[in-house]
Amino acid sequence: MTRDLVKKIIPRSVLIFRVNLLALLSVVKLAMRDVFVYVKYAQVLNKDLTVANIEASLIANCHSIERGLSLSNVRLRFGGANIDRIIQLLNIRLNMVNDKCDHIHRMAIGVLDAYINYHETKGVSLPELILKTRELSGPCAGAPVVNSGTKRILKSDWTVSQSSDFGVFARNRFSIRNFSSIPVENEVLYKAINLAQRAPSVCNRQSSRVYIVYGCALDKILAIHNGIRGFEQHIHKILVVTSEVQSFFGATERHQPFIDGGIFLMSLVYALQYYSVGTCTINWAVDIARDKQLKMSLGLPDSQEIIAMIVVGNVPDEFNVACSERLDTNEIIKTIN
Ligand SMILES: Cc1cc2nc3c(=O)[nH]c(=O)nc-3n(C[C@H](O)[C@H](O)[C@H](O)COP(=O)(O)O)c2cc1C
Repeated sequence: MTRDLVKKIIPRSVLIFRVNLLALLSVVKLAMRDVFVYVKYAQVLNKDLTVANIEASLIANCHSIERGLSLSNVRLRFGGANIDRIIQLLNIRLNMVNDKCDHIHRMAIGVLDAYINYHETKGVSLPELILKTRELSGPCAGAPVVNSGTKRILKSDWTVSQSSDFGVFARNRFSIRNFSSIPVENEVLYKAINLAQRAPSVCNRQSSRVYIVYGCALDKILAIHNGIRGFEQHIHKILVVTSEVQSFFGATERHQPFIDGGIFLMSLVYALQYYSVGTCTINWAVDIARDKQLKMSLGLPDSQEIIAMIVVGNVPDEFNVACSERLDTNEIIKTIN
């Protein structure tokens, strides 16, 4: 009754304005919460680092070294700043954790050893680094060694894994940064994208889109992307995975483009591997200006968020990949009942 009366008295445009204002406020409220949580916990501001912050930095720096060692052209003494940071973080972390020889510590020591060993095979001795690594690995005498550095993969083994069970298939998925000179046919990419569409999506709204970028358009990505450094010479095609924001409703779905897009992207990575296409997912974590620049140069609509990109290529007969050791599974599980 009262509602009907209000509707009669207040003009429709005012009612719509009110509804829109409330919706806008709820987006702003949630966006402010996002800012608060991110600034408080992620490494944005200069602050005292938590163990979790330190471990993330340690793993990222170790990754830079393993990634560098896996490239087809390894620069001698590359990543000096990463090596210094690994040593610094290991020392800080030793003062914060009880187990001085846990999995992460051994993983990082393994990366330093892999770096030293690589240089030794090239006739370059790194005495100062050897000394520091020995000091840090002291508490780990006799402890199991963690696989670190790089591993050599034979295309024949990698291809066989595609017709194996999912366990073997998934354990043979690697980010590959070394491709043959023969580009992947678009036909194969279409088949993989079709298979990837089996990915779940919120209410089956299927917001994901894929742009196959090659030729002159590819140069626009290569010119500005910082995640392909060291293997750009092997890249013939890149898939840009986006999510259509127009598919989503209301404030609470603001992250959904990235969730649906991320799930689709993983499905695509596996689908590509199924069709024997090597992949390396590359980030699109950029500022507004760079995002606009790329969208304009590729003609991508502003209504789509770029989730990430996937470098795709045929794999050579043999190639190196980074070991990219995973955390101890027990560390990432908590049972709640
Ligand atoms: C969202 C995302 C962004 C990534 N960005 C890059 C990148 O810019 N450059 C790169 O070489 N690798 C990139 N990677 C690959 C990761 O380094 C790789 O997945 C990780 O080290 C684990 O190794 P694996 O994929 O071989 O198992 C990215 C991966 C993801 C999921």
